[in-house]
Amino acid sequence: MSLHANAALPPHPAGTAPVQPAWLRITHWVNALAVLVMVLSGWRIYDASPIFNFSFPARITLGGWLGGALLWHFAAMWLLVVNGLVYLAWNLSSGRMRRRFFPLSAGGVLRDALAALRGKLSHADARHYNQVQRLAYLFAVVDLAVLVLSGLAIWKPVQFGALSALMGGFDNSRVVHFVAMALLVGFVVVHVVMVVLVPRTLRTMITGR
Ligand code: HEM
Repeated sequence: MSLHANAALPPHPAGTAPVQPAWLRITHWVNALAVLVMVLSGWRIYDASPIFNFSFPARITLGGWLGGALLWHFAAMWLLVVNGLVYLAWNLSSGRMRRRFFPLSAGGVLRDALAALRGKLSHADARHYNQVQRLAYLFAVVDLAVLVLSGLAIWKPVQFGALSALMGGFDNSRVVHFVAMALLVGFVVVHVVMVVLVPRTLRTMITGR
């Protein structure tokens, strides 16, 4: 067989392509690590000047003190943003985003949610996300974008003045940042419970198969 003919072959024979490609698995686990560091150090930063009537117990925060927590937060921020951009660029340019997350409709989400509650939602095809998953994953992506943008508005309120104004000023940007964090933590809790209920998906997210 000529080299030329080989080059025309698909990278994986039909049916053997990984369910979750390597770039997706790497960016997913790097993202999980970055989110963990950002949330735990964020709680320590919040504790230095709480905006609500409570603080986080110091033992579940990261950084030890405000300065240490800021160092963790800013280090993980680069990881989160660069990794997130790689994920988005690959997902969009390969067409995977469109294939995996769409179509998506209110009726479809309701139908799949009701089927899940009745225990009738099939998990047989790991290549296919049901509409509740699609909505939840798209929510996580959008929520992470809001976290990054509100973080920029708090970090550099002068340089990102327009962003800060869009979020109602510095104090409101802090509230937006906090609420987006709380929603992301809520997503992660539900996400991990779902993985425990369908553990096969975890193997796929580690090995690709
Ligand atoms: C900490 C923050 C986390 C975030 C923001 C997050 C977000 C996401 C997103 C957006 C997807 C879909 C990715 C895509 O297909 O493009 C996904 C898939 C997945 N995640 Fe996470 N994740 C997190 C942590 C975790 C953890 C701790 C676990 C394991 C316990 C986990 C296990 C999985 C699995 C197994 C899938 C694939 C689900 C399936 O194939 O049905 N994730 N995650």
